[in-house]
Formats: sequence, C-alpha cells, structure tokens
Amino acid sequence: MPTDYILAIDQGTTSTRAIIFDQSLKPIATAQEEFEQIFPQSGWVEHKPEDLWDTTRRMCAQVLMKADVKARNIAAIGVTNQRETTIVWEKATGRPIYNAIVWQDRRTADFCQQLQQAQHEDLVRTKTGLLLDPYFSATKINWILNEVPDARAKAERGELLFGTVDSYLIWQLTGGEVHATDATNAARTMLYNIVTGEWDRELCALFDVPMSMLPEVKDCADDFGRTQPDLFDGMEIPIRGVAGDQQAATVGQACFEPGMAKSTYGTGCFVLLNTGDQPVFSRNRLLTTIAYQLDGKPTYALEGSIFVAGAVVQWLRDGLKIISDAGETDTLAAAADPAQSVYFVPAFTGLGAPYWDAESRAAIFGLTRNSGPAEIAKAALESVAFQTRDLVEAMDEDWGGAGARILRIDGGMANNQFAMQKLADQLQAPVDRPQVTETTALGAAYLAGLGAGLLETPHQFTRQWRSAHQFIPLVDKSAADQDYQGWQKAVQRVLYKG
Ligand code: G3P
Repeated sequence: MPTDYILAIDQGTTSTRAIIFDQSLKPIATAQEEFEQIFPQSGWVEHKPEDLWDTTRRMCAQVLMKADVKARNIAAIGVTNQRETTIVWEKATGRPIYNAIVWQDRRTADFCQQLQQAQHEDLVRTKTGLLLDPYFSATKINWILNEVPDARAKAERGELLFGTVDSYLIWQLTGGEVHATDATNAARTMLYNIVTGEWDRELCALFDVPMSMLPEVKDCADDFGRTQPDLFDGMEIPIRGVAGDQQAATVGQACFEPGMAKSTYGTGCFVLLNTGDQPVFSRNRLLTTIAYQLDGKPTYALEGSIFVAGAVVQWLRDGLKIISDAGETDTLAAAADPAQSVYFVPAFTGLGAPYWDAESRAAIFGLTRNSGPAEIAKAALESVAFQTRDLVEAMDEDWGGAGARILRIDGGMANNQFAMQKLADQLQAPVDRPQVTETTALGAAYLAGLGAGLLETPHQFTRQWRSAHQFIPLVDKSAADQDYQGWQKAVQRVLYKG
C-alpha cells in the first residue's frame, strides 16, 4: 500500500480527536475521548497536561486500528488545538510544573485590569491585535511563574519552556526534540507581534515572561520535526501542519479570499473573516489575528468570539431539562407561538465580542402566561443567530464590508435547521454548510498534506470545497431588523457596564 494517509490530531477543550484522511481529504476514521475538566475555584479552569498527551497518544493508536491503516502509511501529521491554553514544563524532564491553564480561566482578571488602568491596552492592541483579557496566554504564564515555588528563578535560568497545546504536543511527539509553534497559535499568546512576525521584547517585559521560554514560531505548513520511534511502530512520521483550531477551521472551510468568513458552533462560536495580507484593527472590540501563514506570509483575520452558542442548548437539556436531546430543539422551536416575542440573552459567563462584559448574566425577557418550552427553545436558538449578527455587523463596519460576504458554517449546531435558517434571515445573506463538516481536522490535514508536498496550493483545495446545503433568507429585511432590535434592547438590559 502506498504512503498516502494523513493523520490529524484535534486537541480540543473537552475532548481529543484523531482523524485519518485519505489523500483526497476524505475522512476515513475518527477516534475521540473526553478528559477531565478541573475547576479548582470559581472562574478557574484547568486540564492535566498528561491527559492532553495521553488522550492524544491513545486516539492516534485507536484511529489507526479503526481505519486499518499502518503507521508506515501515514505520510504526515497535522496538529490543531484549543488555543491560548497555557502549559509550562521543565526543559530537562518534560515535566509540567503546573496544570494547563485553560483559555476560559479568569484568574488573571485583576492583573488585566491593572494593566488596563495603567493605559497598556493600546500597546497590546497595536502589537498583538488582542484585548487585555485573561483569555490569552501571557497573563497565565505570568501567574504560573509567580505562584509556583521556584518557577521564576528556574525560568530565568532558562530551565522552563512555555507552550500552547500544539507546542506541548509537538514536544511530546518528537521526544523533546522540537520546541515550536505556528504563527496562528503564537498570535493568541499576547506576546507575539503580528505585524513584525516575532516575539515582542516590550510585551515580554510587560508581562514579565523570559524570552528563553518561548517556542520557535513557524509557518502553518512547516517542518515541525518527526515523531519519536516508540510512538508509531518505529516509524518517524513528519509533523507538517499546525494551526489553532479556529484558524484550522478557516482553512478547512477554504476561506482563502478576503471577505470569506466561517462560523464554528461548538460550546461557543468563533467567527473569522479573512481580511487578506493586511491586519485590520477593529473599532468594535473584535480581535485581529493571523488566519494562517504560508511561505512566510501571514494572512490576517478579524475574529469575533461568543462564549455561549451550543452551550445554551446544553442548558435547556441539563439545566432546565425541557429537552432530552439537543436535536429536539429544532421541532420544538418550530412549534413556538409566532405571536410571542421572547428573547434569551445567554450571558451565563458574561458576554464576549463585541461587548466583552464579564459581569453580565443571562436573562429571558418577554415571557407571558402562554410561554412554555417551545418559546424558550426558540429564543435560545435565535440568540445564536442574533449574536452571530452582532459579530458580522461589527466585522462589516471594521472591514468596510466590500463585496458579497460568504459565511460558511460548521460545528454541531450547523446541523440545527431552525438556528441556521434564522441566521440566514438575520444576515440577509446565504449561509453555506459544507459536505465535510469536520472542518477543523480537515484544515489541519490539508496543511500537513501541503507541508508534505502531497497536496496542491490553496487554490486547488478551494475547488474541492463543496456546499451540502445553502440556507437563504426567508424573511425580508424589515422583519429581520425588527426582531434584531428586540434582541439589542434585551442585551442592553443585561449589560453590567451598560
Ligand atoms: O479560543 C478557544 C478555542 O480555540 C476553543 O475551541 O473548540 O476547543 O472549544 P474549542
């Protein structure tokens, strides 16, 4: 058998997946395992780095078995990952000195506020495209160095390494040979200058992070070393593609032209709009980030992050218990009384872009004696469409909205007819769901295939992308706007800052 498969590792926030693709990028087999979420205090979220590595190893072995593919037939590995999550480990032993501090963790909120008050946000924004928020890695590294005994002294002696999850997995996969990351993951640390394309001395000083801890930054389809022989039956498989999960989904959705955007619906929702070879700095509190970097050239994106999308359906199921399966919301919402205007602002953990209000909390408005599960389910699904419109409008304003916008959707909720129809109605534009909905892993596999010389240029890959379903608006603009105004009023009523 020829060597023609690609193994994609997708290390996410709640589970680790491994997927084998054939050379035409058709998924052949998938293995997935969840791991422990650790909540040591309110607002703190941690993972055990060993869990991230063990599940990765196990899922790789499992998927090879499922696909009945031998390690010698894997031409390349692609890695994609939950972004921003921070791991610090000892260079000599590979031992992490603290749990992974997850992107959702808010423990450094006070530090971020101090830096904001000291007027550092502009510096951070112009260099990194990010906001001074605990979401990103820099303040998490600072916390580990300050709180773990001896950590700072060791870091200053060059004995500790930092990595986002991709970097930690590459280190493990290569048996400690390679300490590297890619530009998309580096762009989420708040230490990387996305304009000059290098770790930024001034920011490292601001966050008190020794530069010796930082990984080498590479292109997304670069040479990230080879796996150590004991992992894959003595084979040394090249790691040739790396990107943060939302960026990998942007690649997997073939959003290679400026103006193309993708929206991924998982627990939260992340919209990335390709803005081409120039970074666009938002006036609407969106993030500027690197969508992908090939041949040393970054392609930039505007990003909007919503913290609660699929999670609102989980809450209907596990919290309110009005459904027993997420899929039920579709028919339930369709049966809602159209005369009622119920709005649900799912700010369970505050609101993300464009509001960035950590203190607001969820609320349901407009309930009457006739309201029941159907109206609440409808309002919950609609909140996802309204929040996406919030982001898309902010993006259009920042970017100028030149030309027709294309929005491609993926993730679990992309299969919810009601929510996605509402989205097309709200955007007054078509919304496309692709044939391959494993877009994150697909993006990583494509990058690895490109890096290994198996696959052609992005232009060729674009031609391969196929829509499985297109949602087109079914209501006119004035009806959509009227609904949206109700949402905007509801948001104003939950904003803590407002
Ligand atoms: O920025 C966080 C994002 O990368 C997490 O994605 O899919 O692991 O929740 P996911």
